Amino acid sequence: MSKSSSKPVLVTCGLPYANGKAHIGHLRTYVPADIFVRSLRKEGREVTFVCGSDTHGTPIVVNAEELGITPKELVEIYHKHFDEIFKQLGIYFDAFGTTDDPENHNRTLDIVNRLIEKGYVYPKIIEIAYCPSCNRFLPDRYVEGSCPHCGETARGDECDQGCGKHLEPGELQNPVCTICGGPAEYKQQEHFFFKLSDFSDYLMDYLSNDLGGTSNARNYALGWVKQGLSDWCITRNLEWGVKFPGRDDLVVYVWVDAPIGYIAFTEQWAAKAGDSWEKYWKNDGEIVHFIGGDITYHHCIFWPAMLKGADYSVPTAVVASGMVKIEEKKFSKTRGYVVWVGEDYLDHGFHPDLLRYYLASYTSHTKELNFSWRVLQEKVNTELVAVLGNFLYRTMLFAFKNFGEVPAGELEPAIKEEIEKTLKEVKAAMAEYEFKRAVDSAMALASFGNTYFQSHEPWSLIKQDKAACGHVIYNCLHLAKALSLIFEPVIPETAETAWKELGQEEDLHTALYDEALVPIKAGTKLAKPQILFTKLEDDRIKEMEEIANQRVKAANAKAAGKVEEKEPSKSEGMGTAKDVEEAKKAAAEEREILPTIEYKDFAKLDIRVGKVLLAEPIKKSRKLLRVEVDIGEEKPRQLVAGMAPYYTPEELVGKYVIVLANLKPAKLCGVESNGMMLAADDCANDIVAALTPDKEIKPGSRIR
Ligand code: MSP
Ligand code: ZN
Repeated sequence: MSKSSSKPVLVTCGLPYANGKAHIGHLRTYVPADIFVRSLRKEGREVTFVCGSDTHGTPIVVNAEELGITPKELVEIYHKHFDEIFKQLGIYFDAFGTTDDPENHNRTLDIVNRLIEKGYVYPKIIEIAYCPSCNRFLPDRYVEGSCPHCGETARGDECDQGCGKHLEPGELQNPVCTICGGPAEYKQQEHFFFKLSDFSDYLMDYLSNDLGGTSNARNYALGWVKQGLSDWCITRNLEWGVKFPGRDDLVVYVWVDAPIGYIAFTEQWAAKAGDSWEKYWKNDGEIVHFIGGDITYHHCIFWPAMLKGADYSVPTAVVASGMVKIEEKKFSKTRGYVVWVGEDYLDHGFHPDLLRYYLASYTSHTKELNFSWRVLQEKVNTELVAVLGNFLYRTMLFAFKNFGEVPAGELEPAIKEEIEKTLKEVKAAMAEYEFKRAVDSAMALASFGNTYFQSHEPWSLIKQDKAACGHVIYNCLHLAKALSLIFEPVIPETAETAWKELGQEEDLHTALYDEALVPIKAGTKLAKPQILFTKLEDDRIKEMEEIANQRVKAANAKAAGKVEEKEPSKSEGMGTAKDVEEAKKAAAEEREILPTIEYKDFAKLDIRVGKVLLAEPIKKSRKLLRVEVDIGEEKPRQLVAGMAPYYTPEELVGKYVIVLANLKPAKLCGVESNGMMLAADDCANDIVAALTPDKEIKPGSRIR
């Protein structure tokens, strides 16, 4: 984005698929965009910030089918979910619509019709994957197979596990129907193509000379153009979506109508605000798209070509983030490497500002970002608590206790200069989408404040010279005011609390950065400050790590179960095999030896030999057996064991097994379990073996 420009700016975020819950990976698009928008507004720029739900495409249809609801019902649920999560995180869009809104249907038709009129769209008979047993065509996610470029398992429209290339219908090799798992065949059908190849020269020039944003986006896209662009199939055999003009049996491909949502949502905002959408899409207002690096192709190739072809303005900048990893593992919902924003974060009482801070300051925007609970703890404790929180709290508490209001004083030139320097750095960093650099400069100002406070020893000064002390505190309070302003884009809620405690009446969210140079007014009443950031203690972090570990375990178990269920059908697509492979690897990584313990810890376990007297399935459970075991007590012990997938009840009865006898009783599927039958678990290969003594030995014998 041009630094000196004063044009209005439209900022958009990659539209979340209304198909599942919000996770921390998503936030890498939305939080930095929100910070950017807030910062531009603080510079006095006119900004419109829009987003909405991406509601079309096969994954949504597939999911809705699985859940037995309509796609419309499904997207309503998740649209509401994202809307709420965004607000809870302090991300406020000027419009947040859906791509199924009438504005988007209309705008898509307008653009597609214009492309048709201008000769950029042509029909062509192509081979489309078709499932003879389901008797239907298989667009995109309905078909899996191998990538023609790299050989990896791929979906119909994307090599998601290998080279990342966009795939055209008919390109996938060894296609398999994802509905029934049977082999698919290719059948001829008429579809419509966009003449993307006509735009090669245009894109080359646009990407090299005009497009701003992060260089990763530009460079990837240029690489693709240099490799040569093929025409793009823009229709699909689906009911759900935006109908292709004149063809009731076809909808446009989701990647046609999804980005057009950016325009439709601008129209929605304009209608509400009495403003004009054309100033962005038909004139020279700036357009800045925030996306994750995974959707660069769509935003830097398809989208500008479509806009250009239909005579709309093209994006000024594409800001592509690096992807989010979880605890150094590739983000994967199926493998359990995911952190849900609602249930794993907000619901546990973590403040949204801590996560906003983490996402902005962990690393440079274009790099991969690792989310780890330990790192969150460390960053919060050593940066937000120890530096920023410490300065704000000690300043405001000292001022409140000793003066009750902003004391008389004069802003020292050195302090003013430091603030000016910070503002300059922050603005420059924001203009380059270097959010970490911006936050680090702001944090350096807080550090400077701590040094100033510490070196002037106001706690001794107050006893000797109250006026001199007042002057020092005046400067500290002014720094606190400047810090609230400068940190507002990153931690809006906490900054506002500090701002109000400083007695500032203006709305912090609309206040300009320049206000940081206006000396704080002596005599302003101060409120009793509250602690702004509290340390994250070990037990909270351990609890979260435990939840994360459980999730990975559950995912492994599920993946292992998948093998079992699906094994009979040998015509299985490679996708599942690959998933299982990954799950196996994950299981192997789990096998680390735990830290050393004392013998006295081991001695707390009462482990005994038992003889199985009875075993029977538990209704409602696929996994559990009710087992009665003689462990040398008067009455047999009742245990619940997760053995059903591995042993028949008959195989267990009469077996000598090993039982942990002093485990706290627990109810499983309504049946009380008074101990635990021990077993060896090779979860990667889905083998479970009950432990048994080497020779017959009296039930109740102790293991030590
Ligand atoms: N619906 C498309 C975008 C259409 S834009 C016209 C989509 N949806 S998404 O729900 O998968 O992702 C929404 C945004 O979050 C995208 O910008 C995407 O790049 C980003 N991310 C989703 N998962 C992510 C990570 N694990 N890491 C970083 N960003 C990621 O893509
Ligand atoms: Zn590939």
